[in-house]
Amino acid sequence: MSEQPLTGHEQPGDSCTIVIFGASGDLTKRKLLPALYNLKALKLLPANFAVIGVAVTDGDDAAYRKTITTDIKEFATRPVDDAEWDDFAKRSHYIPGDINSLDTFKTLSAKITEVQTAWKLPGNVLFYLAVAPRFFAKVVEQLHAVSLTNQTPEAWRRVIIEKPFGHDLTSARELNCDLSKHIEESQIYRIDHYLGKETVQNIMVFRFGNSVFEPIWNRRYIEYVQITVAEELGVELRGGYYDQSGVVRDMVQNHILSVLSLIAMEPPSSITGDSVRNEKVKVLESIRPMTPEEIISNTVRGQYGEGIVNGKSLPAYRNEPDVDPNSNTETFVAMKLMVENWRWAEVPFFIRSGKRLAAHTTQIVIGFRRAPLLLFGAQMQDDLDPNRLVIHVQPDEGITLDIRAKKPGPNLNVASVPLDFSYADFGEHAAATGYETLLYDCMVGDTTLFHRYDSVDASWRIVDPILDVWQALHARDYPNYAAGSWGPAAADALIRKSGHEWHHYLLKA
Ligand SMILES: NC(=O)c1ccc[n+]([C@@H]2O[C@H](COP(=O)([O-])OP(=O)(O)OC[C@H]3O[C@@H](n4cnc5c(N)ncnc54)[C@H](OP(=O)(O)O)[C@@H]3O)[C@@H](O)[C@H]2O)c1
Repeated sequence: MSEQPLTGHEQPGDSCTIVIFGASGDLTKRKLLPALYNLKALKLLPANFAVIGVAVTDGDDAAYRKTITTDIKEFATRPVDDAEWDDFAKRSHYIPGDINSLDTFKTLSAKITEVQTAWKLPGNVLFYLAVAPRFFAKVVEQLHAVSLTNQTPEAWRRVIIEKPFGHDLTSARELNCDLSKHIEESQIYRIDHYLGKETVQNIMVFRFGNSVFEPIWNRRYIEYVQITVAEELGVELRGGYYDQSGVVRDMVQNHILSVLSLIAMEPPSSITGDSVRNEKVKVLESIRPMTPEEIISNTVRGQYGEGIVNGKSLPAYRNEPDVDPNSNTETFVAMKLMVENWRWAEVPFFIRSGKRLAAHTTQIVIGFRRAPLLLFGAQMQDDLDPNRLVIHVQPDEGITLDIRAKKPGPNLNVASVPLDFSYADFGEHAAATGYETLLYDCMVGDTTLFHRYDSVDASWRIVDPILDVWQALHARDYPNYAAGSWGPAAADALIRKSGHEWHHYLLKA
């Protein structure tokens, strides 16, 4: 079977120059270059394109080509074809320079003109800000100062902004205000690589491409929703960043709330751009920020202590490199959120996420209500869990519908049976970085999978009060879960108060 193209993507993106700020960074090496190469191999990168890397490190085109040729061998997610890569490398250029200096942008402007002339490229330019968030506003200000943000009907100018977008509500608003002095909202592509994942995009297809689920996708049939984003890894080499951030800023404010809004949104009038984003933001606006009392009873925070996993001793968070030994940063969160609209009133959305947990998994569990009649005896009915639908996002991608079925044999015994769909069985599926779809979408001007500012603001309005209460009331019990466990006992107590328990499903191989 031939390799599947990315869903719905048949034509290559617009011819353009791709400028990467942070060209020597970790993200560029591990994700962006492999993703661009994958797009090229799938014939989704325009035949005519150029890349210009910008970073502080001294260098020129030749040195940069050498570096990325070494990097791609290490980080490519598919075999690298020599001819394909040679074409990519010779279209790659580099300028050294400090973002804080206007001269860098004057040099960049001249380089863009030179590269566009050499490759006979149109005026389209994609700027990817793969640099620390403190540079986001500065880069855009400097681009504007040298007129690189000016668009014409023949020449678009788009800016992809990495996460995090702000550290809290106030800083997110400031950043947005700074950006909007120089560019239009339609030029800003706030990236969330979770939304580039196959299964996350499949949520919309699953909900709105099938007629059987939408009629039951509401409070009448659904009792609760769970979203788990669990990592086995600790903070690795990112202790300095993580200690300033914590799991709510790193995972909940962006990825988890975005996935939640895809699960809960009303059907959009079309599947592109603002129609989807309008519906997503309505969900976030239906989640009323919690009062301090509600925060205390509906949220649990945790920080990992040492633990032993597979015979290996793992350090406590406070002993990780670049982490404050008295850190109050949370590495685990569980919370109950209520989406207060007609579709979801009184249906709890339980979310949990953390580092150094017992498994590496992202999954969404939709818990249906019990069948209304105890036809198979009260005892048996009690022993049987109601139906559940599980959307597996990673590491395995797929969907499980857990149904009840009669066990073979003369007696009427009922058991749970999973109906599994695994992406691995669904055509040949080349490993991707998660950035391919998003880079492609930016090149064709499709904003559907990028965060619009109103949804960023709405997410911060949900998490900001929680962070404020936690900041005011320092956790006294840290560390409160062992590395390799499922988090603090209080997280189990939180969900049990509502009569439920956390689920963790494995997708059948
Ligand atoms: N790494 C990931 O997996 C990941 C995942 C999600 C989001 N992100 C986001 O992506 C962004 C980049 O992260 P990263 O991990 O790639 O960072 P990184 O490895 O620290 O790389 C930073 C890059 O910025 C450049 N840089 C630093 N100061 C500069 C200046 N004054 N002028 C011009 N360039 C400058 C560096 O150039 P030199 O090397 O030449 O100094 C380097 O290329 C961050 O916003 C991060 O939050 C990263």
